[in-house]
Amino acid sequence: MSFSNLVSDLAFRDSNPDERGSQISHAPSRTARSYASTNATSVSISGDISSQLHAGYSHPLSRSWQAERQLTKDMLIYPLFITDNPDEETPIPALPNQHRRGVNRLVPFLAPLVRKGLRSVMLFGVPLHPSAKDALGTAADDPAGPVIQAIRLLRSRLPQLYITTDVCLCEYTSHGHCGILREDGTLDNAQSVDRISDVALAYAVAGAHCVAPSDMNDGRVRGIKLKLIEAGLAHRVLLMSYSAKFSGCLYGPFRDAAGSVPSFGDRQCYQLPPGGRGLARRAIQRDMAEGADIIMVKPASSYLDIIRDAKELAEDLPVAAYQVSGEYAMIHAGAKAGVFDLKAMVLESTQGILRAGAGILLTYFVPELLDWL
Ligand code: PBG
Ligand code: ZN
Repeated sequence: MSFSNLVSDLAFRDSNPDERGSQISHAPSRTARSYASTNATSVSISGDISSQLHAGYSHPLSRSWQAERQLTKDMLIYPLFITDNPDEETPIPALPNQHRRGVNRLVPFLAPLVRKGLRSVMLFGVPLHPSAKDALGTAADDPAGPVIQAIRLLRSRLPQLYITTDVCLCEYTSHGHCGILREDGTLDNAQSVDRISDVALAYAVAGAHCVAPSDMNDGRVRGIKLKLIEAGLAHRVLLMSYSAKFSGCLYGPFRDAAGSVPSFGDRQCYQLPPGGRGLARRAIQRDMAEGADIIMVKPASSYLDIIRDAKELAEDLPVAAYQVSGEYAMIHAGAKAGVFDLKAMVLESTQGILRAGAGILLTYFVPELLDWL
């Protein structure tokens, strides 16, 4: 028996029984045991041994060591849709397994998840009352509205939970855009920043640990930070900026769920163009300079290069990635069509997002991940 065959034979016998399946496919077959090593497969002591990679990942544990970071439950933020109808619990057709819930449904739903290790949620308000929408998005910071009610409730009933709040006007404006509009239908940045920073402050005062503006108005991070400082809340309310938020078709299921489809036009004049890597880098640097504590990239899987850019530009800040509604729906649809196994695809997609540089992950797969991790 040659030296290399002896080594393979030992590796075969030493392998964990659970791992035999994969080892067998690499080990020489019993009948081939006398097969002489050729120069092509053997490595001489003086030859180049940099070709030898398999040893580094021949075991499940050594495979996990190849990743710079592993997904943990602490990294997960679960997005929730909260309606103004307190007893409602309605499935969202475009988002399998996700529901719109009223405040009365939150604690019964979340308590078991908290026991499984849920650390954080992101709240989205979904006003369903026909009178709830106007040109200024007045309902966004209604103290009796679903988000502020949910913040207070969760802070008192599930005090371990870290509460992040999406801050935007599109769910509350009659026109469905993410700010206040001028006569000509374009965004009025100054007015929008004033209004959005008031909304963020109201959430912070109600007890949110984190405010996350997703509106994309220029200057809103600074506007929010200044109000938090004035209110004496800046030392304990984190500002997570949706800095590199790209426009596109992947938010469709969310807009159905949240009732925030614009009544005219689209969001291409404020969300970033999908090819705009340079703009994303500028937005990330701008938001850091304006006081963001966390930089977010969204969507995730089609923008892995941007996540990497964010990690390089914002190397001293945590970077979050949002696996958005369209990515979630696409993975479900692919699994249902038999293209791949759901769990395998979810874990593969999250590994890609972490490998790119994210350390925080917003995803609708949080309940499943709490079972799988
Ligand atoms: C609100 C907001 C949106 C998302 C997060 N915050 C929708 C949008 O910008 O149209 C998308 C989340 C998702 O698709 O899962 N501005
Ligand atoms: Zn919006």
